[in-house]
Amino acid sequence: MVRVRSSLAQLPAYVPGRKLPGAAPLASNESPHGMLPGVVARLGELAGGVSRYPDMSATALVNALAAHHGVAPERIAVGAGSSEVCAQLLHSVVRPGDEVLFGWRSFEAYPILTAVAGGRAVRVPLREHGLDLDAMAEAITGRTRLVFVCNPNNPTSTAVGEQALRDFADRVPDDVLIVVDEAYREYADPALVPDALGLLGDRPNVVVLRTFSKAYGLAGLRVGYCVAPAEIAATVRKTQVPFSVSALAQEAAVIALGEHAEVARRAALTVAERERVRKRLRALGYEVPASQANFVWLPLAGVSADFALYCLSGKVVVRPFLGEGVRVTIGLPQENDTLLALAADWRG
Ligand SMILES: Cc1ncc(COP(=O)(O)O)c(C=O)c1O
Repeated sequence: MVRVRSSLAQLPAYVPGRKLPGAAPLASNESPHGMLPGVVARLGELAGGVSRYPDMSATALVNALAAHHGVAPERIAVGAGSSEVCAQLLHSVVRPGDEVLFGWRSFEAYPILTAVAGGRAVRVPLREHGLDLDAMAEAITGRTRLVFVCNPNNPTSTAVGEQALRDFADRVPDDVLIVVDEAYREYADPALVPDALGLLGDRPNVVVLRTFSKAYGLAGLRVGYCVAPAEIAATVRKTQVPFSVSALAQEAAVIALGEHAEVARRAALTVAERERVRKRLRALGYEVPASQANFVWLPLAGVSADFALYCLSGKVVVRPFLGEGVRVTIGLPQENDTLLALAADWRG
């Protein structure tokens, strides 16, 4: 009898946001604006090339990212979504039983990928819906190898500021890798939320994680990357599943990067909608923490599942976290209006 690893038996499966034909998809933090125009134009032409393997080193994409961030190409490693890059980072530094620390609740893939890598997840409770960086620094032990700082935090949408992040980094021993996950960077106010690459990018134990899945509108093509010290990036590249980033994904990401002005314009639309949605929800009596992402968090505790089911009956798919809250992605204005009308009529 084949024995599967017992450490994986208790592992919850990743719960993807549901998709329901005809319903507003406000459960997965995707861009509601679809693909960027240049990407649409080129994908059809590229499809004819899929009988060939892609460039395993993703040279054009790595060079474009290096130019975009003003860093050497050696500092970039790509993967099939930043989820794969998270896994690659874990496989790079975690030995069996090593501790991986993160705030909780945060991105639900962290504990899953940690267990798959053989590590032990250490969850540090949030404080007022935000990362408690002091408590996280205190929770570091001699076994800690990696700390995820999700900024802004998924699913609670809050962000930590420059001083707090720098103070935290100062307290982390330099043999512990700090991974600042900036999946939602494009929706954050740069005056309030630091760009970790600018703030900490010169430190030997800091990695910044970014994705093309959110503001760049490429969730279905799977491209993410990290900017890391060159030696770490070299190890991360070794842990990549061969050819995991398709040629279509690589080329679409290069095109999307070139359209960053349009990305910023679309992100600004989402931010304006986010503020409108939050204001209305608060006027309706909901608690809604200030968001720096493309979603809002409703800490509905025990009625979270009921609220999500109720929204589903009104053709809006949101993402409940049982007993904790509901994450609502900001969609197009009319999708948001449907959500707001439902929220107004909710009798929890
Ligand atoms: C904080 C955070 N990091 C990383 C990811 C992974 O995204 P992807 O693998 O599509 O790049 C997500 C997706 O929801 C996320 O919320």
